Amino acid sequence: MTVNDIREKYLQFYKSRGHTVIPSASLVPQNDPTTLFTGSGMQPLVPYLLGEPHPKGVRLVNSQKCFRAEDIDEVGDNRHTTFFEMLGNWSLGDYFKEEQLPFVFEFLTKDIGIDASRLYVTAFIGDEANNVPRDTESAEIWQRLFSERGIDAEIRDVGSEADGYRLGMRGGRIFYYNAKKNWWSRAGVPENMPAGEPGGPDSEVFYDFGTPHDAKYGPECHPNCDCGRFMEIGNSVFMQYIKQADGSFALLPKQNVDFGGGLERIAAAERGDSDVFKTDVFWDVIELLEKFSGKEYADSRYKRSFRIVADHMRAAVFMLADGVRPSNTERGYVLRRLLRRASQHVQKIGIAAEKTEDSMLVRAAIILIEKYKQAYSELEGETAYQDITSEIWKEELQFARTLESGMREFEKLSDGPITAESAYMLFTTYGFPFEMTQELAIERGLSVDSAGFYERMKTHQELSRAGAEQKFKGGLADHSEKTTRLHTAHHLLLKALQIVLGPHVKQRGSNITSERLRIDFSHGEKMTKEQIADVERIVNERIQDALPVVRSTLPKEEAEMLGAEHEFGAKYPDMVSVYSVGPIAASQENPLFTDAYSIEFCGGPHVSNTKEIGTDGVFKIQKEEAVASGIRRIKAVIA
Ligand code: ALA
Repeated sequence: MTVNDIREKYLQFYKSRGHTVIPSASLVPQNDPTTLFTGSGMQPLVPYLLGEPHPKGVRLVNSQKCFRAEDIDEVGDNRHTTFFEMLGNWSLGDYFKEEQLPFVFEFLTKDIGIDASRLYVTAFIGDEANNVPRDTESAEIWQRLFSERGIDAEIRDVGSEADGYRLGMRGGRIFYYNAKKNWWSRAGVPENMPAGEPGGPDSEVFYDFGTPHDAKYGPECHPNCDCGRFMEIGNSVFMQYIKQADGSFALLPKQNVDFGGGLERIAAAERGDSDVFKTDVFWDVIELLEKFSGKEYADSRYKRSFRIVADHMRAAVFMLADGVRPSNTERGYVLRRLLRRASQHVQKIGIAAEKTEDSMLVRAAIILIEKYKQAYSELEGETAYQDITSEIWKEELQFARTLESGMREFEKLSDGPITAESAYMLFTTYGFPFEMTQELAIERGLSVDSAGFYERMKTHQELSRAGAEQKFKGGLADHSEKTTRLHTAHHLLLKALQIVLGPHVKQRGSNITSERLRIDFSHGEKMTKEQIADVERIVNERIQDALPVVRSTLPKEEAEMLGAEHEFGAKYPDMVSVYSVGPIAASQENPLFTDAYSIEFCGGPHVSNTKEIGTDGVFKIQKEEAVASGIRRIKAVIA
């Protein structure tokens, strides 16, 4: 079955069970300041899960385009992709577990024809602290469904992932895991959810490829093991709770189902081959590359590059169709990175840089447009075709120029060994890929300090990733002095909001220019005049206090233990950059005071003392308004 066949069967299956097909939302989220790209099927449906009536009714089905930028560096193995389609069916307060799990089972085993004995499932073990019971209903429904196929499905307790590696399969088919594995919300586990966020227990389905366990991951295998034997192909979330301002959980007005199934993964399970890149959508591109390069995908020297080109080009085509254009900021930067990386890996496979617009990347894009245009009308038609192909070619030309100037710089350095510093300068200043530096050095018999380069890159990446969190929040418009002052004022403001309104206040987005700052935060009601005045007073007092602003780089866990504020839903590297605002450091080894006024995960930049914020006047809130259900927005200035 092709990916198109499976999508079509899925939509039909639910259509014939009373669901209305809704189109995929854009990859560029509308009215959602929390992320750069749509990364799950539920994101565009949040208002309806919270209780707003959906114009198309209470049973919906779709295939949502998703992009997860945080997975870019993972692409290259047999299952990670940046872009994917998430098959979704939705019950908005209509059916629940009793109907949902049989739907999933029937679709996978009958319509797709997957052998039931290859399926393993998980359910939520319960969470006493948050008063959420163990999901025995799901476990029992699964047991019944398997027994109808003559399979005696035993239920086993696991708990955490570590428990899974310790306890193993024990002849079970249905496994209970904790919230890290079987609870779904946009923010992850219950503790990380901000007030107003919906979430709930979930039940996942895994396909067993039957490959031997690799003990490098842990002594025993279990459904959530990373060895590759099992692959998650679908997840039914029972979206029934909402986090309250006091941290407790209440039932949502309606008990919803949010199912998400990875289309390409289901296709891989249908083929019984764990390599998602062998499914038709990628395979056509890979064959094109094989033909022009004379190299084989099966050759382990090139496999990773084949996969990166196929993945990145598909993501780029969909982004371009949704109006994203290559640039140096935010979404455009992500797109630029995809295209440039794809171009580099085409060359790695051995296809020389192109001289005409009939390039390998353009050809790959055309294959993908053809493949998807029936299901996604934004890819249909001459304009879309022209737009997408010409943007790709334009970016390739620009990248070629970048490489040329990098080459000229390289020539200047090439009379001796290439130091880490030079390689780093070539990369950061000229955008010259390190692989190129290495290859050129080999050609000329020069040595390169690779270890030194990676060391420097690690620091660079940690800092820029922390900085990228800023980008994900909407970010800083520039690094001018005025913007920097407002950025520090932004930290003072977030803390003041928590003091005045309560600890449920979490940042949900931000944007800072030299004129004003903007913050989106979780809070259910309009702020009163008094609250606004209090917040302004606190911020201005902290400016008057002339508090030092200190930056530290420290392990993520440690920063979390210090209670550092971090952006909801964001992923962070192991080492993070953290800014604290006063009081003075306790010691040099431990420059952060646990009782600092404010501590946030942040890439900066900031003023070094809060008094600098006061240079232009006093802090004033200009506007306080609602942006989404449970989310308020403040615009503030220094004037
Ligand atoms: N929203 C659920 C997920 O993304 C289905 O896994």
